[in-house]
Amino acid sequence: MTRFASVLDLIGQTPIVDVSALSPHPGVSILAKLEGRNPAGSVKDRIALSMIEAAEAEGRLVPGAADQILIEPSSGNTGIALAMVCRMRGYHLKVVLPSNVSPERRQLLLAWGAEIIDSPGSEGSNGAVRLAQHLAGEHPEWVFLYQYANANNPLAHYRTTGPEILADVPEITHFVAGLGTSGTLMGVGRYLKEHKPGTQVWAIEPPSGEMVDGLRNLEDGYVPPIFTGNDGVHLLDRKVVVRAKESIEWTRRLTEVGLFTGISAGAIMAGAVKCAALIPATETATIVTIVCDDGWKYLSTGAWSDDIDDVVNRAKQIIYF
Ligand SMILES: Cc1ncc(COP(=O)(O)O)c(C=O)c1O
Repeated sequence: MTRFASVLDLIGQTPIVDVSALSPHPGVSILAKLEGRNPAGSVKDRIALSMIEAAEAEGRLVPGAADQILIEPSSGNTGIALAMVCRMRGYHLKVVLPSNVSPERRQLLLAWGAEIIDSPGSEGSNGAVRLAQHLAGEHPEWVFLYQYANANNPLAHYRTTGPEILADVPEITHFVAGLGTSGTLMGVGRYLKEHKPGTQVWAIEPPSGEMVDGLRNLEDGYVPPIFTGNDGVHLLDRKVVVRAKESIEWTRRLTEVGLFTGISAGAIMAGAVKCAALIPATETATIVTIVCDDGWKYLSTGAWSDDIDDVVNRAKQIIYF
């Protein structure tokens, strides 16, 4: 086995596994990159490290110095990943969370030593963003990395996720991923378009007004600056809408190929299957998708055990994702 100097060296170089058993088209392979293997458990470890290292390089954060405070709005994986890196570097992280976030998320943030600031549950993640922006404005001495506008978010994927995918799957024809901050799609998409022109980049989004694990519909009133800054409208070849119920269905189906994943992986898999079904019967293709995280944080959704309509309804009250 390889020996590593730090847990942070375990970020990235995640495995890709063939899940074509779920493909509706015999000529279309589907491969899934398992980002849950990152040490804090998700794809967001990559951007947490890249945003913090960039802030250190710019002198905005100084490892070991007293009173280094960061603030970030995140109901999900970015908060958890930042909390791990901050814990290791000795920084104090304040995470602004909607008050109705699931217990697993709270517990994980507390485990990593983060401080939680509640924002109104009824305002969802957009409310958490607004409160974090307000607090950051009142405290210019705090470091606000703000994943939605931080160029080091897509850059982490341009430098690591994209090259890893092309090295492992040189025959890739389609990249299918969820759209949250858009960092994954912008970074990997730009890398693939530059290094394998012709690769199709497809985004999965929920219908307007519906919540699916970390994903957002751009028509819901907020377009991340990194999406605009990377000319996302032209970079994306297509958007595929996946409903909350389909996401749960496909999260369950992924267990057939041995994958216990978060709900966005189900959404992205549902999108990959729709992509495969659109490819003419006489053609072949290779789709690469992202499994953003594993299933542990979602156990209280009942996603694998309860009636599927109950799961979808429960997700409207509590932010699991
Ligand atoms: C579980 C999960 N899936 C997908 C995404 C979307 O990734 P990105 O922010 O790179 O668009 C996120 C991000 O918020 C996430 O937490």
